Amino acid sequence: CFSPELIHLYDLKGRIVVVVDILRATSSMVTGLAHGLEKIVPVSNLDECKSYSQQGYLTAAERDGKMALDFDFGNSPFSYMADLVKNRTLAMTTTNGTRAIRLSAEADKVVVGAFLNLSSVAAYLQEQQKDVLIVCAGWKGKFNLEDTLFAGALAHKLQDSFESENDATLASWHLYETATNDLAGFLSKASHVQRLKNLDIHKDITFCLQQDVYDIVPIMEGDFLVPYIP
Ligand code: MLT
Repeated sequence: CFSPELIHLYDLKGRIVVVVDILRATSSMVTGLAHGLEKIVPVSNLDECKSYSQQGYLTAAERDGKMALDFDFGNSPFSYMADLVKNRTLAMTTTNGTRAIRLSAEADKVVVGAFLNLSSVAAYLQEQQKDVLIVCAGWKGKFNLEDTLFAGALAHKLQDSFESENDATLASWHLYETATNDLAGFLSKASHVQRLKNLDIHKDITFCLQQDVYDIVPIMEGDFLVPYIP
């Protein structure tokens, strides 16, 4: 599914949804939980996110790639490596990624994927033996390359155990085949890479394209994203 706007076309009952927003929401979520965040509550708007600070939550907000004013964090994964996050809870709102998670709530399970935890997500899905829908956060309802490459990479990981009813998966599989040896090069002209570079954000891109840095599977439990421990 190349856009959260299309989620309503799918029956999520009985399915696992993997939400991906490589640059940078799900990469930051995986990083924060791997570095000790206790849980993350993805919220849709800035006011709701801000209100969590009164309950002792750390707060993170990004709009159009930029950190929103008066929040603890923006959306750089490097912010989530600080000791400050250990054993803390985080309320987070981003342009696309948190919205995609909220829109997937009807699924049996909602899992957060990134290149950073690709193999852990693949292993989890193979354990669960359920139908999977990969929801690419994209950009404001539009297709993007990096999330689609993740979908192709995950399809590759699952290739011995998946049949796809959707040519989108097959397309993402082939796209990943083409890009796999040089993701950064393949994405050099991608819209959000250009957007971030125009904001002088470079190292986040390199970091978010690394594979299997963390062995963690964030999964939604109620309103909260927590690390799944097998
Ligand atoms: C998103 O939600 O689309 C991303 O988080 C945007 C970003 O962090 O640059």
